[in-house]
Amino acid sequence: MKEIKLGKSDLNVSEIALGCMRMSELDTQKASRVIETAYNEGINFYDHADIYGKGESEERFKDALKNTFINRDDIFLQSKTGIRSGYYDFSKQHIVSSVEKSLKRLGTEYLDVLLLHRPDTLVEPEEVAEAFNQLHSAGKVKQFGVSNHSPLQIELLKKYIDQELITNQLQFGLMHTGMIDAGIHVNTKDENALDHDRAVLDYSRLNDMTIQPWSPVHAEDGVFLNNPKYQKVNDRLSEIGDKYGVDNEVMSIAWILRHPAEMQVILGTMTPERIKNYSQASKVKITREEWYDIYRAAGNSVP
Ligand SMILES: NC(=O)c1ccc[n+]([C@@H]2O[C@H](COP(=O)([O-])OP(=O)(O)OC[C@H]3O[C@@H](n4cnc5c(N)ncnc54)[C@H](OP(=O)(O)O)[C@@H]3O)[C@@H](O)[C@H]2O)c1
Repeated sequence: MKEIKLGKSDLNVSEIALGCMRMSELDTQKASRVIETAYNEGINFYDHADIYGKGESEERFKDALKNTFINRDDIFLQSKTGIRSGYYDFSKQHIVSSVEKSLKRLGTEYLDVLLLHRPDTLVEPEEVAEAFNQLHSAGKVKQFGVSNHSPLQIELLKKYIDQELITNQLQFGLMHTGMIDAGIHVNTKDENALDHDRAVLDYSRLNDMTIQPWSPVHAEDGVFLNNPKYQKVNDRLSEIGDKYGVDNEVMSIAWILRHPAEMQVILGTMTPERIKNYSQASKVKITREEWYDIYRAAGNSVP
C-alpha cells in the first residue's frame, strides 16, 4: 500500500483509509475482522465522527480493536465534530466536550486528526482557535483539518488558528466530480463550468491540503458499481481493468488515486472481501488517456 504525507504534517498514512461510519451495524467480532483485514492490506488510517451510529461506531471500534493484534500507536485515528441534531456547532464548549467523549468512546488518549465536519455559518473562529489550542496543548489532538469546507471558509479559520489545517474531507468519486468538472470547463458557457466547490481542488493543491474523498463509489441514488443504470462507466472500468488484472470496482478507486493531487480515499465498505479487493487499487496506475476515457464514460464531456 502506497503511503502519502497528510497535508503539511509528518504523518505517513496509507493512501486508502477505512471509514467507520457504518461500523455500528456490525457486532464486535465482525468489526475486528474488518479492522484486521484493512490493517493487513496496509491500511493504517481509520476515519470516525462523533455522530456515526450516535457514537456507537467509535465504541464498537474500541472493543473490536482490543480483539486484534494491532496496537493503538500503530494506526492513525481521525474523528470529527461540529454536527448536532438539526444544526452545526463550532463553539469552544461543543468542540472540546465532543472530542473528550470521542476519546473515551475510542479508548484512546489522543486523536491523530480532528476535523470540523460541516461548515457552521455561526462560526466564531476565535472560539475554534481556543478549542484547538486547548486540545492541542493537552496532547488530546495532534493535527487538525476540515470537511466539506470551501477555500474561503478555510481562509477565515486560518486567520485565527495557530495549527495547520492538513485535510479537507469532501465527497468525490467517478459519479461526483464537480470539483474537476469546473476546472475542465472554465470560461465556457457549459453548465459544468458552474463552480459549486469554489476551486477547492486547486486551492487544496496550492496549500498542500490533502483531499479525503468520501462516498467514493456512490452516485446520488446509491452505489453505481454493477448498477445497470451506470452500465457504460462500469463496462469501461472493466475493459481497462482487464489490462491491469483487476475488476471495475478496483478501477473506480484507482481512478481517484491517479489524480496527482494525491488524495487519501475513504472507503466505507464493511465487507472484508471488498476491503481486500479495493486495496489493490494502490498498485494500479492508469494512463492519462485512460483516466479521461473513464471520466467521459461516466457521462462527462471534455470541451
Ligand atoms: N465528511 C463527511 O461529510 C462524510 C460523509 C459521508 C461519509 N464520510 C466518511 O466516508 C466513509 C465512506 O463513505 P461511504 O460509506 O458512503 O462510502 P462508499 O465506499 O462509497 O460506500 C460504502 C457503502 O457502499 C457499499 N458498497 C461498497 N462497495 C460496494 C460494491 N462493490 N457493491 C455493492 N455495494 C458496495 C457498502 O456495503 P458493504 O458494507 O455491505 O460492503 C457500504 O454500504 C464513511 O465511512 C465516513 O467515514 C464522510
